[in-house]
Amino acid sequence: MYLINFSLTVSAAHSKFPLSVTDWNILVLFSSTFPECQLCVLTGGALQIDFRPAFWRREAVQRIRTTRTQKIQPHSGALALFSVRFRNCCPDLLVGAEVALSVGGKVDIMSQLMRVITRKMSTSRAVEKVVVIGGGLMGAGIAQVAASSGFRVTLVEVNEQLVEKAKGNIQKSLARVAKKQFKDDEAAQNGFVATTLGRLDATCSLTDAVRDTDLVIEAIVENMKVKHDLFAKIDSVAPQHAIFASNTSSLSIREIAQVTQRRDRFGGLHFFNPVPVMKLLEVIRTPETSDDTYKRMMDFGQSMGKVCITCKDTPGFVVNRLLVPYLAEAVRLLERGDATAKDIDIAMKLGAGYPMGPLELADYVGLDTTRNIISGWHENFPENPLFQPIGTLEKLVQDGKLGVKSGEGFYSYKK
Ligand code: 3HC
Repeated sequence: MYLINFSLTVSAAHSKFPLSVTDWNILVLFSSTFPECQLCVLTGGALQIDFRPAFWRREAVQRIRTTRTQKIQPHSGALALFSVRFRNCCPDLLVGAEVALSVGGKVDIMSQLMRVITRKMSTSRAVEKVVVIGGGLMGAGIAQVAASSGFRVTLVEVNEQLVEKAKGNIQKSLARVAKKQFKDDEAAQNGFVATTLGRLDATCSLTDAVRDTDLVIEAIVENMKVKHDLFAKIDSVAPQHAIFASNTSSLSIREIAQVTQRRDRFGGLHFFNPVPVMKLLEVIRTPETSDDTYKRMMDFGQSMGKVCITCKDTPGFVVNRLLVPYLAEAVRLLERGDATAKDIDIAMKLGAGYPMGPLELADYVGLDTTRNIISGWHENFPENPLFQPIGTLEKLVQDGKLGVKSGEGFYSYKK
C-alpha cells in the first residue's frame, strides 16, 4: 500500500461558529502520472474550500522518496471518485485536517478519513483567528505561514514603520514560496500571494487585535519584563477561550504565563527561522497547560504543515538547548584564534553536513538574539560553563553588528 500525505484546509465561508449541518464530498482525480495528481473538493452548504495542490504534490513526492516506495502508476486518465458524506459535522473542526490517503484502496481511504473526522470532532474549539505579536524575522514568518495555511491572521507591531517593514518582508518571502510552488504559472503565483495577503491584517492596535482571537502568538524581544507587560495587558481583553502562546527561544513559559489568569490556556509554540522553510515546531506544555490547550496547539501546528514535537518547559527546549551552546563554542573557538570564521563554517558544513556553519547561522539568527539567550541562561545558571558570556559576541552586539539583519556580523552582508 502506498501512502500519500496531503494537507487539506477547509474553512467556513461564514465564520459564525459553529456551522452544524454539512455535507461534503471529496473527489480525487488521478491523471496519467502520479505527480500530476489533482485534488478537488466539492462541497455542499456554505463552505469555501482552499486547497494547495502544488504543496501537496511536493509533500507527496518527498514522502515517496523518503519511504523508498515504488512509483505509483495509476492508469492513464484514470479517475477515482471517493465521495464522503458527513452530516451534523462542524466544518470548523476540520480546518487543516491532515488526511492520509491510500492509493488503490477505497475502503482504506474511507477509514482514514473517518479517523481524521473523529479526531477533529473531539476538539473543543478549533483555532480560526490568530494574532501574532511582533513582526520581526520570526513573527512575520509565523504570520505568513499561518495565513497561507488558511487562518485569518492579524500581525501586531509597535508603529506604522515596523508594520510596513514586516508587510514588505512577508511579501518578498511569499513571492519566493509562490515561485517555488507554481513554477511556470505566473497567474497561480499571483493568486497564491493575493489570497494569502487577503487573510492577513497588520496593525499597531494591540488590544483591538486580540479582542476576538482564538490564539495569540507572541514573538517579541527576549525579555521577561517586556513579555509580562504585554501578556498582562491583553489578558483581560482577549476572549476566555483564547490560547496564549510564546515563541520564546529560551525563557520559561511558566514564568511568562504567571501574569495571566489563563495558565491552563498558555503554552509554547517555538518556530524556527526561516519559518516558511523549517519544518519543525516545538510545542511546549507547562504543568498547568491543559490537555485541551495542548491538543489545540498541536492541531494548529499540524494545520500549518509543521512536524510537531513536544518538550517540557526547560531552558531552550530541545533545539536551542543543543544549538546555542554549539554556536557559543564556535565563537569561543574563533576568539581563541584556533581557526578563521570561514574555516570554522566550512568545517561544520563539509565535516558534519550542516546546511550553514555555526557563525553563518549565528549571523542568520541574529547576534542580539544569540547573545540574549546566552546571557539569560548565564543569569539563571551562573555555574554552567556553556552559558558564560563571550566577549566577541558582546562587542559585536554593542557595535550594532547584529548579523544579516543589520548588514554585518561575523561576516559583511552589505551590497
Ligand atoms: N522565505 C521563503 N522561502 C525561503 C526563505 C524565506 N525566508 N529562505 C529560504 N527559502 C527557500 C528558498 O526559496 C529556497 O527554495 P528552493 O530550494 O526551492 O529554491 C530554499 O529555501 C533554499 O534557500 P536558498 O537556496 O536561498 O539557500 P540555501 O539552500 O542555503 O538554504 C536555508 C537556506 C534554508 C536557510 C538553509 O541554509 C538552512 O536550512 N539553514 C539552517 C537554518 C537553521 O538552522 N534554522 C534554525 C535556526 S534556530 C531558530 O530559528 C530558533 C530561534 O529560537 C533562535
